Amino acid sequence: MAFVEFEAKDQIGILTINRPEALNALNDQVISQLDKVLDSIDLNTVRCVIVTGAGTKAFVAGADIAQMSGLTKKEGESFGKLGNDVFRKLETLPIPTIAAVNGFALGGGCELSMSCDIRLASETAVFGQPEVGLGITPGFGGTQRMARLVGMGKAKELIYTARNIKAPEALEIGLVQAVYPAEELMAQTEKMALRIAGNAPIAVRACKKAINDGLQVDIEKGAAIEEGLFGSCFETKDQKNAMSAFVEKRKHDPFVNC
Ligand code: CAA
Repeated sequence: MAFVEFEAKDQIGILTINRPEALNALNDQVISQLDKVLDSIDLNTVRCVIVTGAGTKAFVAGADIAQMSGLTKKEGESFGKLGNDVFRKLETLPIPTIAAVNGFALGGGCELSMSCDIRLASETAVFGQPEVGLGITPGFGGTQRMARLVGMGKAKELIYTARNIKAPEALEIGLVQAVYPAEELMAQTEKMALRIAGNAPIAVRACKKAINDGLQVDIEKGAAIEEGLFGSCFETKDQKNAMSAFVEKRKHDPFVNC
């Protein structure tokens, strides 16, 4: 059973969590398949990945509550580690990722979206971390990434109250970058992904790494990380192509990823 599907087209990949009968809830099988799919992405051809959920109702409605209900303390910790490891793999995928949030993004679903670089939502999207209402904490990075994305006060408010928010509020607090009518979400997300894919891939990857790694250290170390990555772009074919085209006042050739 393919709980996670991956399709590559025109230099972009579309990764779909496909368990609509349970609103794409994440059980251990889904998470393990996600892990394998992430490992299988051809980073030489795919330049941007869109993550979405199957069906029209949910992105992902959370970790699988039925599966979690009988876990022991030790098993709970292992399940958290499984989710955290895979979501960290997604977060550190060398190429950009965009979550196309097409419905409920609750608990592990909100956390999955926050492990992507950018979040675009449909007008029907609902975000939240309902875990404290279930007697647990967020377990796939919600306590860590929410505060980094929307600030500590707002993250604490949302996590302590377990209040769900609709797309306009998610936009207002900066959790998502844009909201579209449901029927336009994928087209708009693909448009953004293609625009990213049209830029110099080595430079785009370096930007992702510089931002992600730089946010974990002080500004001096962050600047040094940027310098190294900035330097690494020079002498690439794409840098020579783009800069010589600018100097010669012509359009550059398509980027070749080397
Ligand atoms: N786990 C397991 N099954 C789930 C699920 C979940 N998180 N979310 C939905 N489902 C299942 C339902 O059990 C139901 O299955 P059956 O048809 O077999 O009964 C099916 O999906 C459809 O769901 P509903 O009938 O509940 O649909 P609804 O429209 O009435 O409600 C909803 C939609 C508000 C999203 C509701 O399903 C819901 O509240 N889901 C749980 C959301 C949640 O609490 N998520 C957080 C989980 S904890 C977590 O994620 C921890 C972590 O950080 C890792």
